[in-house]
Amino acid sequence: MDLHDYKDVAENYDRYLDVMYGNGQDNHEGFREFYYELAKQYGDGGVVDVACGTGAVLLYLAERGIMADGTDLSEEMCKVADAKARKMGLSLNIYPADMTKFDSGRKYSLAIIARSGFMHLPTQQLQKDALRNLREQLLPGGILTLNTFDPWPPMQAQQMQTTPDDYSFRLEYVNADGNREKIYNAITYNPYTQQMYGNWKFEEYNEAGEVIATRIRPLLMRQTNRHEMFLLAELCGFEVLDIYRGYRGDKEDLNDPSTAALYRSNLIWILRRKD
Ligand SMILES: C[S@@+](CC[C@H](N)C(=O)[O-])C[C@H]1O[C@@H](n2cnc3c(N)ncnc32)[C@H](O)[C@@H]1O
Repeated sequence: MDLHDYKDVAENYDRYLDVMYGNGQDNHEGFREFYYELAKQYGDGGVVDVACGTGAVLLYLAERGIMADGTDLSEEMCKVADAKARKMGLSLNIYPADMTKFDSGRKYSLAIIARSGFMHLPTQQLQKDALRNLREQLLPGGILTLNTFDPWPPMQAQQMQTTPDDYSFRLEYVNADGNREKIYNAITYNPYTQQMYGNWKFEEYNEAGEVIATRIRPLLMRQTNRHEMFLLAELCGFEVLDIYRGYRGDKEDLNDPSTAALYRSNLIWILRRKD
């Protein structure tokens, strides 16, 4: 079980993300609009939101007339996305599926893995499995977009000193039961596997300020560097069309690796299926 598989995480996800990204820590700012523009540009043959979570992108697109399918490994995330869609009067195809294997029986011209979904694949083998499978779910010339947070060595060096229960305070929010909750996390980094792993701790309080529950939820992710991603894309039958640094539309120069030192950021890859 990983963080997003837990019912309590899925049910509170939108609430704590709103606070997390409202705190000026938002390297996803503008993501919905970005995917809407991509969907208008590439989505004519059908769109699938892979690792759709609670539907942040899926529902935004649907509200604007783009009826995408949604899949996520976590049943709990799918349930939340589905309930939100129904409440909005939308009938969407949202179902649990692993991106390394899913096959809905239809093909798409655009597959979106929004925010850090791709980074939740913990090994290079699973990344290859996902890329190869997603390629098969695309029409010829179809587009896959995914994100990587470009590794930044000083940050990884710091995380190498952190143990999985060396918690830092992240935020406070009000949970779905109306109780105040504090979130702490501890992230450690293994340079050999390129995995970031650790725990998120949710501490729930009553009105008297007493802790009434503590939930520890594990999280495992993998860092992929820029050069590795180019090779993975090529190996799995994609060409790199563009890389954006963040969702504001700043493009990277694909031919200038010296700009890598500037990255430290959220890279959004636009990959095209080679026929
Ligand atoms: C950071 S969340 C992003 C959710 C959503 N895309 C968004 O922008 O709000 C990552 C999601 O990836 C899902 N996930 C992790 N591994 C997956 C896999 N192998 N196949 C499909 N989804 C996966 C998790 O369940 C989680 O909902």
